[in-house]
Amino acid sequence: MRRPWVGGNWKMNGVRESNAALLDALAAAEHVASVDTAVAVPAPYWQQSSDALRDTAVAVMAQTVSPHASGAYTGDCSVAMMEDFKLAGALVGHSERRQGVGENDALVAAQFAALQRAGLTAVLCVGETLAEREAGDTLAVVSRQVLAVLELMGAEALASGVLAYEPVWAIGTGLTATPEQAQAVHASLRAVVAAFDAPAAQALRIVYGGSVKADNAAGLFAMPDIDGALVGGASLSAPEFLAICRAAG
Ligand code: G3P
Repeated sequence: MRRPWVGGNWKMNGVRESNAALLDALAAAEHVASVDTAVAVPAPYWQQSSDALRDTAVAVMAQTVSPHASGAYTGDCSVAMMEDFKLAGALVGHSERRQGVGENDALVAAQFAALQRAGLTAVLCVGETLAEREAGDTLAVVSRQVLAVLELMGAEALASGVLAYEPVWAIGTGLTATPEQAQAVHASLRAVVAAFDAPAAQALRIVYGGSVKADNAAGLFAMPDIDGALVGGASLSAPEFLAICRAAG
């Protein structure tokens, strides 16, 4: 049985004062012991978040990472910097970075490798656009994205992280994939990994992201291959995020 994983992706939201209220609520909450929980926060708030959540079960993560150890990469952050703040890992390949700043499969795989080699958790984000889904290309797209990591690092390395299926057309739109739609893609992704290593495929946690809310989480988590969620907007509300975590337990 895979331990559920629920992550909150704050994206580019929050300032010190609003973060303090959210972090204090997360720190004060009674967390579900059977669910692994994390928040991915903007770099300026790694210290604030790590301090606030230090004595809790909630892990603090980054939202991206450089594949390079150090050097002339203005604006980027390295694995070593994340280790300085005792972060648990980072998201890699979020669609907002694949589309927003042109991150491609090779770069994302290198980011994943940098984290995994350091023993940190990499959350690999994959997903198709509405045009790709309407063209019938969903499985081709997400398979291509996950194969980039599988071919570089292997299935056991992938299973040491988390795979997040986030259909781009469901992100921030309120248009959540149905549990059946998400389950179909999750099962296909697990089959792609199983072709490399069946035990690793069974161990891999595949979580869903895209307009997850407290009122739709249970239906998603009831699916056999949905092992949790990567939550955007709803993670900025402590009650909503905690309700999603409880639904995963
Ligand atoms: O990384 C999670 C995010 O992309 C989902 O956003 O607001 O649709 O929950 P949201």
